[in-house]
Amino acid sequence: MPEPILEVRGLVKHYPLTRGILLRKQIGAVKAVDGVDFHLDRGETLGIVGESGCGKSTVAKMLVNLERPTAGEIRYKGEDITRLSGKALKAVRRNIQMVFQDPYTSLNPRMTVGDIIGEAYDIHPEAAPKGDRRRRVRELLDVVGLNPEYLNRYPHQFSGGQRQRIGIARGLALRPEIIVADEPVSALDVSVQAQVINLLDRLQKEFDLSYVFIAHDLSIVRHISDRVGVMYLGRIVETGTDTEIYDHPTHPYTQALLSAVPVPDPEAREDRERIILAGDVPSPTNIPSGCRFRTRCWKARERCALEVPALAVPAAFRDEGGPAAHDSACHFAEEKRVVPAEGSGGHGGGPG
Ligand SMILES: Nc1ncnc2c1ncn2[C@@H]1O[C@H](COP(=O)(O)OP(=O)(O)OP(=O)(O)O)[C@@H](O)[C@H]1O
Ligand code: SF4
Ligand SMILES: [Mg+2]
Repeated sequence: MPEPILEVRGLVKHYPLTRGILLRKQIGAVKAVDGVDFHLDRGETLGIVGESGCGKSTVAKMLVNLERPTAGEIRYKGEDITRLSGKALKAVRRNIQMVFQDPYTSLNPRMTVGDIIGEAYDIHPEAAPKGDRRRRVRELLDVVGLNPEYLNRYPHQFSGGQRQRIGIARGLALRPEIIVADEPVSALDVSVQAQVINLLDRLQKEFDLSYVFIAHDLSIVRHISDRVGVMYLGRIVETGTDTEIYDHPTHPYTQALLSAVPVPDPEAREDRERIILAGDVPSPTNIPSGCRFRTRCWKARERCALEVPALAVPAAFRDEGGPAAHDSACHFAEEKRVVPAEGSGGHGGGPG
């Protein structure tokens, strides 16, 4: 197996909670990310999904060094980049770029599109000789499907979809190997979402990119991802190929999320079982003992409060292999098909 281009181990980000103005005393921590593990192979797309507040953006920010991890490793081609600084860090950062969620706020309204995209060359002058920068910016506009003559326009002169194309061009300026896209289409009209996803798909092949694609919408993630990681309260609770996760989920949280995904076929929709989760997501300042999902899990038993389930192939599936044999952090993992098989128009099969 070739080495993954990115490997994350035990990644943690805790924000201190303090009280008092003069004598600031730490009284706890917001455990935004609390032990995340995953890898990204070259040329693939890893989708990360989970409800609002589960720590997706915090993971993204650590990957591109906008936040420093509290603990854990981020290995880029085998090297832990959380320990780098100075020139070495700068060189690595060039290769891991981010595309942000909101194209309305992530582009400086006072800068022209040419300056926004070309700004990366001020920080990394070695990436493009001065005399060649405008040509490169035009080329990038063309690559993302915008008129190269627009480089003197301002962000407000573009639509939401066009602005996200500008954000993508900016992400590509340094010819990175990895793009971390944090909900890149969530702020866009549904009609525009598919165009931007198709653009990302095309660019991936054209530029040999590896993507970490973050979203809360499971259907969008399925469309673009080779593998998917499902996050809950600061951790990944299940991970596998798109077929493993969508057609053979074994973690109760994934099953609940999938049961809420809209199904276009009315007949299949009627057959489907909706899993309604009890209660609210607990606060990341006060994470339940044992399995962090237990306060909302309909299968929770005593063991769930005592033992943290490891993210591994559950013993029940280890020997038999097959698509249910993928990593799932649950003591009582069971396969349950929630989404009807594509094109089946009805019963999903599996234990219900
Ligand atoms: N700078 C910060 N200080 C304190 N808490 C923070 C900080 N940034 C994020 N958090 C908290 O960490 C948790 C995870 O936030 P994060 O933005 O990573 O979630 P998310 O999964 O991206 O959510 P969304 O889907 O809404 O974008 C939340 O409870 C959030 O309030
Ligand atoms: S370990 Fe227990 S509480 Fe956690 S998901 Fe599995 S059954 Fe539910
Ligand atoms: Mg977010």
